[in-house]
Amino acid sequence: MEDELNFSNEKRTKYCGEFNKEDVNKTVTVMGWVLKQRDHGNLIFIDLRDRTGVLQLTISQEKTNEQTFKEAALCRAEFVVIAKGVVNLRKEKNEKIKTGEIEVNVLNLKIISKSKTPPFEINNNSNTSLELKLKYRFLELRNEEFQKTFLLRHKITKHTRDFFSENGFLEIETPMLIRSTPEGARDYLVPSRVHKGSFYALPQSPQLYKQLLMVAGFDRYFQIARCFRDEDLRADRQPEFSQIDLEMSFVNQEDVMKINEKFVESLFLKILNIKIKTPFLKMPYQEAMRKYGTDKPDIRFKLEIKSLKEAVLNSNFKIFKDALKNGGVFAINLKNKAEKISRKNLDKLTEFVKTYKAKGLFYSKILKENKTSNFEKFLTEEEIKLIYEKTEAKENDVIFIISDEKEENALKSLGALRLKLAEDFELYNKDEFSFLWVVNFPLFEYDEEEKRYVSKHHPFTAVFEEDMPNLENNAEKCRSKAYDLVLNGCEVGGGSIRIHNKEVQDKVFKALKLTEKEIEEKFGFLMNAFSFGAPPHGGMAYGLDRLVMLMLKKTSIRDVIAFPKVQNACELMTNSPSKVNEKQLEELNIKIKEK
Ligand code: AMO
Repeated sequence: MEDELNFSNEKRTKYCGEFNKEDVNKTVTVMGWVLKQRDHGNLIFIDLRDRTGVLQLTISQEKTNEQTFKEAALCRAEFVVIAKGVVNLRKEKNEKIKTGEIEVNVLNLKIISKSKTPPFEINNNSNTSLELKLKYRFLELRNEEFQKTFLLRHKITKHTRDFFSENGFLEIETPMLIRSTPEGARDYLVPSRVHKGSFYALPQSPQLYKQLLMVAGFDRYFQIARCFRDEDLRADRQPEFSQIDLEMSFVNQEDVMKINEKFVESLFLKILNIKIKTPFLKMPYQEAMRKYGTDKPDIRFKLEIKSLKEAVLNSNFKIFKDALKNGGVFAINLKNKAEKISRKNLDKLTEFVKTYKAKGLFYSKILKENKTSNFEKFLTEEEIKLIYEKTEAKENDVIFIISDEKEENALKSLGALRLKLAEDFELYNKDEFSFLWVVNFPLFEYDEEEKRYVSKHHPFTAVFEEDMPNLENNAEKCRSKAYDLVLNGCEVGGGSIRIHNKEVQDKVFKALKLTEKEIEEKFGFLMNAFSFGAPPHGGMAYGLDRLVMLMLKKTSIRDVIAFPKVQNACELMTNSPSKVNEKQLEELNIKIKEK
């Protein structure tokens, strides 16, 4: 009998997917998971899998020992095995796998660990529920697609570290247990045992620490930072996510943009071998809202929003008339699709826009033989003609109009409709990567709930110098030196030039209705730092998960995070969050309220 195979003494010759014709006749040792076992009586085939690919093992009753043949017969999906054998050229090549030209004729094989029958097939689980897959995430991650994803994610973070290091940035870690300064999303809180009744917050981003690193003179900082935000989940949002975070001293907006364009260019070339055109288009916030109804426009397709103000300025149609008083009447023209849109489609689209605050949807479907319109009867010939001119409407087009007494409602609803139509009618090239900067954001936006202005980005964003006089009494007129990076309609990053002057920072806090006491309590350390020589500085942060998601053409960031959370913020494999025991609560001086 051959030597007993002993896992702890053996070394793998190489990974399964790395074998090729050049290995023919070599005696090799391989280890991995059984993808499939096929038993043909005196011949058993095992597809052995690891993170690099699949390799066929052939176990012949004639050519191997009795023990090995028995073990091979016992092998089932997901068993872990070790095998020794000779690489052989296959008679017929299997085109489906990388190692399809060869196989290993096994001399010796041993099961290292067995597996229960998996709750779903590793490579064929599209009908399995999300919950089950996440409960067994360690199995789902064995899937070839996930293995590829995390290899690429690793390459992306490695390139990020290389790029910023080569460009003079230092990677510096910032704390995870920090002071709670809620502005923006809700904080995750961690109770302190030592200071009973006090809490740390988990960072929503390293924003203030990176600014303090600039005050500390590090000049250029970056970090792949974990961030935590207790907010509702979406396809591109997780409560716990990663940022590529960076900050630079003695720079202006152009400098920050330039180095980041260089980064994106190098990243896409290195990882995807795609040449991205730089510099990216810069679009003022107002233009983005007016043309696309969003501050993160997808510009892979046109379908721009047009204002119909001039066309219906003197109209007697009450709905348009009322809308024009303070709001607006806007339209988009879906070109060449009238034949493809049914009455049912139009009803569905009407329901769709209503979920975005639109009160309704006006349309004209222009076919050669007839026209279906729910608004033209209320307008004059001349008004209709002007609308067609404005929207460049022709035969076989469909015009959609939304009017609202609040301009923003009409624009945002049309913006959402624009995206839906583009998706439904495949108006863009899915292989395209289209970047743009959105600039000149308003510094504040009005929060209806809180009845006060809140920062559009964060309170540390610099104000246009010429807008400074408006800070006190005309806050809505102030523009900020913030910039968002948008890729295919997704905000992949955002940043700004910061305030580095104590007096200006104080004015902004006051515009946000913070009292002297609150400023001192929450941001005293920052104000203090600013009084010891703060350099002008600015930076930005990318949502790393979003960037990876878009680069790999995934539809959810869950697909690029190893252990993500679901809609209700639970992690299903470990079942977190969970209750803790009385002793733990006691130590923290915390009592849970009965419902
Ligand atoms: P901001 O809040 O815009 O800026 O965040 C930067 C980028 O992080 C990503 N992102 C998220 N990704 C996944 N899940 C989330 N819940 C989530 N929230 C945000 C987005 C976003 O563009 N400190 C500033 C940056 C700066 O000014 O330098 C900040 O955090 O892609």
